[in-house]
This record gives sequence, C-alpha cells and structure tokens, in this order.
Amino acid sequence: MSASQAADDAGQPAPILEAHDAQLSFGVTPALRGANLALVRGEILAVMGPSGSGKSTLLYCLAGILTPDTGEILFDGQRVDTMGEQERSRLRRDHFGFVFQFGQLVPELTAEENVALPLLLGGASRSRALDAARAWFEPLSLDGLERRRSGELSGGQAQRVALARGLVSRPEVLFADEPTGSLDSLTGEQVMELLVSATRRQGTTVVLVTHEARVAAYADREVVVRDGKANSLSAGRVRS
Ligand SMILES: Nc1ncnc2c1ncn2[C@@H]1O[C@H](COP(=O)(O)OP(=O)(O)OP(=O)(O)O)[C@@H](O)[C@H]1O
Ligand SMILES: [Mg+2]
Repeated sequence: MSASQAADDAGQPAPILEAHDAQLSFGVTPALRGANLALVRGEILAVMGPSGSGKSTLLYCLAGILTPDTGEILFDGQRVDTMGEQERSRLRRDHFGFVFQFGQLVPELTAEENVALPLLLGGASRSRALDAARAWFEPLSLDGLERRRSGELSGGQAQRVALARGLVSRPEVLFADEPTGSLDSLTGEQVMELLVSATRRQGTTVVLVTHEARVAAYADREVVVRDGKANSLSAGRVRS
C-alpha cells in the first residue's frame, strides 16, 4: 500500500503532496518564507494571494521545478527536495501535468501534436500518442481543430488545447498557474468547468494558482500566500 492510500489513526487519508516550512530566495529577494501545505488525493486547492506574494514560486517548488533552500517537499510520502535533477524530471514526466497562463503551445506543431507531446516525451509511439491526444478534442469542444497550428486558434481554444496537454498523460497532480489569466471571464469559466470536470473524472489532484475569487470558487479549499508565507496543513475534503 502506498503512503497516500494509507490513513492515519484519525482516519485522515495521507496527503499526496506536502510542503513543510519551504523557504526560497532569489538572490537577496525572499520569495517563499515558510510554506506549510498538504493536499489529499483528488483535492482541488486554490492558491491565492497578491501579485509577488510567492504563489508561482510555491507551485514550482511543489512541482519539483525549483528546489527550496530549506524545508521539505513530499510527493506520495517521498522527499522531492532531495532528489537530483534527473529524478525530478522523471517525477514530473510520469506523475505531473502542467497548464500555464498563456498555454505555451509549440507554434510549429499542430494542436493534436501539442497535446500528444507529453506522451511522446514519455516514450509512446507516435500513433498511440496521437490517438490518445485526439480523444481529448471532443470532450473539450475542440473537435475539428486537431490539425490547426497554435497561431490559428483563439485564446480560449489554445488554452483548452493546453489543458488537454496537461491531462493527456493522466497525471496524479495537475499544476495550473493562472490557467484562465489570459481569457475573458466567460471563456475562463468554460475552461474552469472543463478543468474541474476532467480532473474530477480522473481523480486528479489540482494545485490551482489564481488571483481571481471567481476561479478559486471552483476549488475544494483555498490557501492564501502572503509575503511568501502559507499555512494550510489540514488536508481538506474532496467535494463529491
Ligand atoms: N526568477 C526570479 N528571479 C528573481 N526574483 C524572482 C524570480 N521569480 C520570482 N521572483 C520574485 O519572487 C517573489 C515571488 O514571485 P512569484 O512569481 O512567486 O509571485 P506570484 O505570487 O506568483 O505573483 P503573480 O501573481 O504576479 O504571478 C517576487 O518578489 C518576485 O519578484
Ligand atoms: Mg505567478
């Protein structure tokens, strides 16, 4: 039984993702000054707070992209902060998915190739990766756009393609940094509804960075980052 399937004495499921007193400075600029956080499997956590408070830095530390100067990051009970770069990149590839504010699609690739990318990087054959990628187009209302290049998509369409790319490898955790930040409010709501329904269906845990209360309302729970500090250790309940 894995650590996250285990339950402690109080019957609480073990967290899938944890930060314990994580601190990180960029040179003389302190970005994280003590983040304490725990998420249970399947939970959607909104990370809120003012610009520059450390939300993205916290997400990058949880995702094994940045390593905190001090403190611990754990995924499924395993220390991430002590892993080497190769092990962390394998962890990201095999267990995590990512969606960022501007989608960041590869302009030379078609929409379906962009979605297939994480599978191709994981070693899947081109035909298997493209088949799996295409399966996402209809549920995300993208049918017919498979062969378009990213410059030929609207902002909302590009962001849904980016969402499909974040989910195609069926990650255990989806890290989303302002996934609706570049969209108008109606399109943003559609993207959030699709993000929530797809991750609920897959049981994916979501770390959702946003400064919009409207977006955070889709989450099970929220944590506010202020001056690099965050405290939300009591793992929440997943909405049914
Ligand atoms: N690569 C970097 N080099 C130097 N300083 C950085 C770097 N990235 C972030 N910072 C600084 O760290 C602090 C936290 O930044 P972070 O990007 O985590 O904030 P944020 O809460 O995500 O803000 P926003 O809502 O504007 O995206 C800020 O003071 C920022 O200027
Ligand atoms: Mg940010």
